[in-house]
Amino acid sequence: MSDSTSTARSRVFDVDAIRADFPILKRKVNGQDLVYLDNAASSQKPSHVIQSLVDYYEQTNSNVHRGVHTLSIEATDAYEMARTKVATFINAPRSEEVIWTRNTSESLNLVAATWAEANVAEGDNIVITAMEHHSNIVPWQQLAFKKGAELRYLSHNDDGVIDLAGAGSVIDSRTKLVSATHMSNVLGTINPIAELAAMAHEVGAVILVDAAQSVPHMPVDVQALDADFLCFSAHKMLGPTGIGVLWGRYELLDAMPPYMFGGDMILEVTYEDANWNDLPYKFEAGTPNIADAIATGAAVDYLSELGMDNVWKHEQELTAYAMEQILSMGNVKVLGPQDPALRGGVISFIHDTIHPHDLGTALDQQGIAIRTGHHCAMPLVRSFDVVAAARASFYIYNTKSEVDALVNGISETEGYFSR
Ligand code: ALA
Repeated sequence: MSDSTSTARSRVFDVDAIRADFPILKRKVNGQDLVYLDNAASSQKPSHVIQSLVDYYEQTNSNVHRGVHTLSIEATDAYEMARTKVATFINAPRSEEVIWTRNTSESLNLVAATWAEANVAEGDNIVITAMEHHSNIVPWQQLAFKKGAELRYLSHNDDGVIDLAGAGSVIDSRTKLVSATHMSNVLGTINPIAELAAMAHEVGAVILVDAAQSVPHMPVDVQALDADFLCFSAHKMLGPTGIGVLWGRYELLDAMPPYMFGGDMILEVTYEDANWNDLPYKFEAGTPNIADAIATGAAVDYLSELGMDNVWKHEQELTAYAMEQILSMGNVKVLGPQDPALRGGVISFIHDTIHPHDLGTALDQQGIAIRTGHHCAMPLVRSFDVVAAARASFYIYNTKSEVDALVNGISETEGYFSR
């Protein structure tokens, strides 16, 4: 594996070799081998990423953009190199368009508090889908309340597929923003972002993509999608918690007011006033999350070496297998597209008789980690007339035998509850 400053090489996609890179996969949970199927909530980290944090703190630790001493120069170079890696990973035209944030939620809030604050007026509307995470609902609700704007929803069919034909009557000349998840964290649906971008641009609106569930799992090209803003979190893609990305088109970011004020984001300060630094620094007030940015670069290296086409292919195979196995149980309903080709590796399901929380707890006793609950998408989950669902979500290190362990675990739990 490359060090944290090198560019990516390629590597054969070998699940056994990949698993060996993840120390946590060797541990036992409740006396059983860990089967980690909660990747949509947060992924595990390879030694390469963990070591990049240790290396940074042991060898380079210093502040960035401030010092003339060697450590500060090295820290700055590594921090900016990580930004360039992220830009290349999503095919951003310029690395200055990559803003480090804390996570996807902060990226979305940044756009709401700056771009939308300046561009959405009374009577305008913001269009989102009915399958959004709370992070891509609540900032727009609050903005709409404040501005007297309208929040509109794109509907989807019973299989969780967006009604594109109907979108034409939702997106109109008063639409300022279309904000959509690229891949639903509940349904697994992959949304037609390029088509929505075309519809948004047709009426002079911009499109924001919540790519928290897509960037970790499939090739994402901001130019091919014709996106205006796109955001994601490092911790779902092998990186550390506490760091995320907002990418935006240069002209948009350049025209936006700052989000936070403080060190590094200014060009000049007098006792009377201040003006703003260039991109990306205008949006990075204060000492940034240097170590985690560098570790995000290491995560990008790891994924790039595997190749995102290979990552996606592995997860599609696993998803198709898991759908087949879960649906063959006969008493489990899977939410979202029934055709595995239309979805990613997130499978939310509802058992006929066992409550998701009981199922999650029983599976945990067998070492199997899934997520249960509303998945931070309460309106969507409630639209299925339930308050909670169980969810298994996959990543590069998961195997078909782990899918078998899940299905056997559900069967064992049925046995327990029928006693
Ligand atoms: N948004 C993350 C999930 O879907 C936490 O689980």
